[in-house]
Amino acid sequence: MTTSIASPLTLPNGITLTNRLAKAAMEENMAEAGQLPGAAIYQLYRRWSEGGAGLIITGNVMVDARALTGPGGVVLETDTPLAPFVEWAKIMRSHGAQAWVQISHPGRQVRAEMGGAVWAPSAVPLDLGKHSKLFTRPKAMTAAEIEETIQRFAATAHAAEQAGFTGVEIHAAHGYLLSQFLSPHTNQRTDQWGGSLANRARLLLDIVRAVRARVSATFCVAVKLNSADFQRGGFSEDDAKQVVLWLNELPVDLVELSGGSYESPAMQGRTADGRTLAREAFFLEFARTIAGVARMPIMTTGGIRRRAIADEVLASGIAVVGIATALAVAPDLPSNWLAGGQRIAEIPRVEWKDKGMAGLATMSLVKRYLWAFAKGKKPASRYSPLFSLIIDQWRLKRLAGRYRRWLATRHL
Ligand SMILES: Cc1cc2nc3c(=O)[nH]c(=O)nc-3n(C[C@H](O)[C@H](O)[C@H](O)COP(=O)(O)O)c2cc1C
Repeated sequence: MTTSIASPLTLPNGITLTNRLAKAAMEENMAEAGQLPGAAIYQLYRRWSEGGAGLIITGNVMVDARALTGPGGVVLETDTPLAPFVEWAKIMRSHGAQAWVQISHPGRQVRAEMGGAVWAPSAVPLDLGKHSKLFTRPKAMTAAEIEETIQRFAATAHAAEQAGFTGVEIHAAHGYLLSQFLSPHTNQRTDQWGGSLANRARLLLDIVRAVRARVSATFCVAVKLNSADFQRGGFSEDDAKQVVLWLNELPVDLVELSGGSYESPAMQGRTADGRTLAREAFFLEFARTIAGVARMPIMTTGGIRRRAIADEVLASGIAVVGIATALAVAPDLPSNWLAGGQRIAEIPRVEWKDKGMAGLATMSLVKRYLWAFAKGKKPASRYSPLFSLIIDQWRLKRLAGRYRRWLATRHL
């Protein structure tokens, strides 16, 4: 029988996804005071749970309050109040989807106005050309900080299970901390955490083991991995394949393949090393190769907004179709496709000369849609990229102030 988007999928731990469509992680930047989920996030996820995806993954939730990808980020640590997360999980599961929390540490990808702790495998600053000064130079982590971080991922996963989520996805892609460890470009360590690929992958593998040790067997544990960094001297496709071979030996329920980082935003379809990605389903070729060696199901995310492409992904032997931007614009796309519809999500994209600013403006346009749904409104038919960028920057600045004040009261 051929696999269709409506086919259920049983994961290695025996848990079943009701269909093959997944809402991929999108940082909401909507946390309330105390970096907790609240009304806006609940309303947004109501739309996604009604929208019909078999798997819903939260935007990245931070394992360390001192290191956030953005000032409206959600933090889940051992002493975080669980009630707001219980409500979030309940909403995500209300229509039968699996509800996973993406757990993450940004490493060096923290904007300067955030303050906090900017940790990385090595003190290699982000190179974003004339925009580099927006980011702080990171500090190389000590062995004790690495050990602490492993325990933090495990503690966040444990708290997620306590709150009623059905799984976690460990974020090891997009140039965040675990991706920085995997890449020889950012990991220049000479101890057991750097050098050979086995050493660079040690942190990810140790985190998978530590997370597994803190959660029950029916709780899903997934990993989001770059198929490559698309950067000279970075993490390559062969590296990704080898990491998946190592993950094969661990109880991992799914691997999501993406690509890129802030320096080389392949997840937005743009690469720094000049390599061309497919126009749709950016990472399908890589995913196909990796699915050939993976024991766990593979999901690929990036550039999928048409039903025909979702079908092509599944026909290529990929188990799950990951969709982010298209679901920000059209949260009920899965229901439409599952009912036989062919709706195409019109994705906003800004083509300015300054590629860095164009990427930021594209993100801020996507966020306008997220905010409209979070407020229970219908999005406008069109948003201005420049105006969206200005309001987004203004909001981020205001939230960064609130976050810094909160952090100061918390970690005296
Ligand atoms: C607004 C926004 C926020 C995102 N936040 C995250 C995130 O928190 N974690 C993550 O792994 N990827 C994040 N992504 C990347 C998506 O998960 C996905 O990999 C990427 O957008 C490509 O898929 P798409 O073409 O379907 O959007 C984000 C993307 C967008 C547009």
